[in-house]
Amino acid sequence: MESKKRVIRICMGSSCYSRGNGQNAELLQHLMDTGTLDGDTVVSEVSGTLCEGLCREGPIVIIDEVVHRQVTPILLADLLAGTVKE
Ligand code: FES
Repeated sequence: MESKKRVIRICMGSSCYSRGNGQNAELLQHLMDTGTLDGDTVVSEVSGTLCEGLCREGPIVIIDEVVHRQVTPILLADLLAGTVKE
């Protein structure tokens, strides 16, 4: 079975960082270190961005070009695992 690769951009602007993307970044780093999330999903690329202009709706995480708002670490893990709809 082919792995599903995810390309993730995480807003590292000061608002998103202080509202939770610091923790989300740590989770993504862990996933990059271990290589997989659930055996089928691979975090293939993670990059940080500057403010996306959506501070009020942050923390902002963009997964495969889809913008996600108010992303907690639990929601991020669920989004990557595909257990919640994107
Ligand atoms: S700091 Fe993330 S949208 Fe502004």
